Amino acid sequence: MDIIKVKDKYKGSQKAFEIISKVHLNGARVFGLATGSSPLELYRELRESSIDFSDSISINLDEYVGLSKEDKQSYWTFMCQQLFSVKPFKKSYIPNGKAKDLAAEAKRYDEIIQQYPIDLQILGIGNNGHIGFNEPKTPFTSTTHIVELTDSTIEANRRFFAKKEDVPTKAISMGIKSIMSAKKILLLAWGEAKAKAIEEMVKGPVAENMPASILQKHQEIVIILDEAAGSKL
Ligand code: GLP
Repeated sequence: MDIIKVKDKYKGSQKAFEIISKVHLNGARVFGLATGSSPLELYRELRESSIDFSDSISINLDEYVGLSKEDKQSYWTFMCQQLFSVKPFKKSYIPNGKAKDLAAEAKRYDEIIQQYPIDLQILGIGNNGHIGFNEPKTPFTSTTHIVELTDSTIEANRRFFAKKEDVPTKAISMGIKSIMSAKKILLLAWGEAKAKAIEEMVKGPVAENMPASILQKHQEIVIILDEAAGSKL
């Protein structure tokens, strides 16, 4: 694991931007994207740059079940606001949280990931060590699947909704096996709330109750931490 500690999320996002620019220059054309607050400054850097994704594919990690693309809180809306409206990709994929047959939607998404192997996957990490929406105890062999969100994740994400009852309780997420199949992974974590998960991810045993611990086994992973997130290393 290549761990880079920086002063704050601004410096960290500049570093992440440099890494993305370099892989793009070297021919990467399939980008796995994440939502949440961790990549926000990185997306700002990308919006303000001259990088051109019009010949690239983006594949997002996850989406809430029950929210349509147009919903204000959907990850589709998030991605349009943060990146796609300014930096459109040739094609952008996000799971359809409104699919009538969610199992078929998961299968369709796996086929997309197979068709377009991810060159670089951007990741955040949940306070409980989840990646994508792969909650603790998700099998490391999982591909795209439907997830029951844990109370801690619902609680952590309620800040984006008017009230807790509005936070969806299910999501459709790329699996851990799919994430691990990316050629390169770039994980970003800011703030003290992430420090324990980061410590367990890096130093703890590789175990399914800490989903991010599997990343110890990835051949090409860069982890960018601010001082607070890296304080227990
Ligand atoms: C959500 C997302 C994850 C994200 C995590 C952390 O659960 N599904 O992809 O990494 O939250 O979010 P944040 O970056 O806001 O801390």
